[in-house]
Amino acid sequence: MSGSVLVTGAAGFIGSHVCEALLARGETVVGVDNFDPYYSAVEKRANLAGMQSLPRFSFREFDVQNVDGWAPVVAGVDRIVHLAALAGVRASVEQPLEYVAVNVDGTVRVLAAAVQAGVRQFVFASTSSVYGQAAEFPFREDLPADRPLAPYPATKRAAEMLAHAFHVAHGLNVSVLRFFSVYGPRGRPDMMPRLLAQSLLHGSSVSLFSGGQMWRDWTYVSDIVAGVLGALDTPRGYEIYNLGCGMPVLMADFVAQLERLAGRKANVRSIPAPASEVVRTGADITKAAAHFGYQPQVSVETGLKLFWEWIAAQ
Ligand SMILES: NC(=O)c1ccc[n+]([C@@H]2O[C@H](COP(=O)([O-])OP(=O)(O)OC[C@H]3O[C@@H](n4cnc5c(N)ncnc54)[C@H](O)[C@@H]3O)[C@@H](O)[C@H]2O)c1
Repeated sequence: MSGSVLVTGAAGFIGSHVCEALLARGETVVGVDNFDPYYSAVEKRANLAGMQSLPRFSFREFDVQNVDGWAPVVAGVDRIVHLAALAGVRASVEQPLEYVAVNVDGTVRVLAAAVQAGVRQFVFASTSSVYGQAAEFPFREDLPADRPLAPYPATKRAAEMLAHAFHVAHGLNVSVLRFFSVYGPRGRPDMMPRLLAQSLLHGSSVSLFSGGQMWRDWTYVSDIVAGVLGALDTPRGYEIYNLGCGMPVLMADFVAQLERLAGRKANVRSIPAPASEVVRTGADITKAAAHFGYQPQVSVETGLKLFWEWIAAQ
């Protein structure tokens, strides 16, 4: 008989989708989130709304930096998906200490709680931005990731390494997942798809770096969720996996596709890309495919259509 799955950052974009998918396959899920004010707590509470009444779901408002309150949170938990984080690249440049506190110190607290509870698999959300301006393309997991362009990827890389140390010291199984630009319903309001949609629906101005001459490997949220569940089911010691779509898109084309769906032009203003921005990202996903059958199903064309349908109905 399986224990329950703890999902940190459960009220966030990806976290709420992961919880729903776990519940849909019959798992018992414990969600925690502190409703961090980076974006609206009202929106985060709405992300949880569909699950709150389900008997196999319980939620606690809880900060992962908590020092001594973990025992009741991890009671009966045998797997952890750690998604709670501060996740803005540019915001991290302004607030490096906050990013270290949540993403590094907070992750160590979750790792320690995992050891305490004797969990059999720990899945950690990292980011494609750990690769920086990598010399090779697409990004493979064994490329160096030691030249981050902002505090956010630096904290994620530090947490990846701390997770390795916990694996060695305590035998904890850890799968690190490097997500590539995730989008879809409930997408984060600070990310490009939401900002563009705001512009298309309400005429607000949206900044586009380098006239859209940047590439991102946009990955639809249901594909990311499938990868998270696949990794959760496949403990293999310590492993790092890319979870991307594997089809990088020029940002100018991404904008044009959403404009076509909306039937109007966005109010786009080109600005020089800040030094914290990677010019292009692209995932080599062969390792996740080989280890747990990861296979993205949603093209950017289809994903943007689904995203636009969701946002237009809000
Ligand atoms: N969305 C992407 O494109 C993307 C890409 C790469 C990596 N990631 C990673 O995936 C994870 C989820 O990202 P998301 O896009 O869903 O972001 P999100 O901000 O929607 O979700 C993160 C959640 O963590 C919560 N949180 C923050 N600090 C906390 C704390 N101290 N204690 C408890 N909860 C806390 C927030 O309130 C939020 O609900 C993050 O770790 C992020 O770094 C996301």
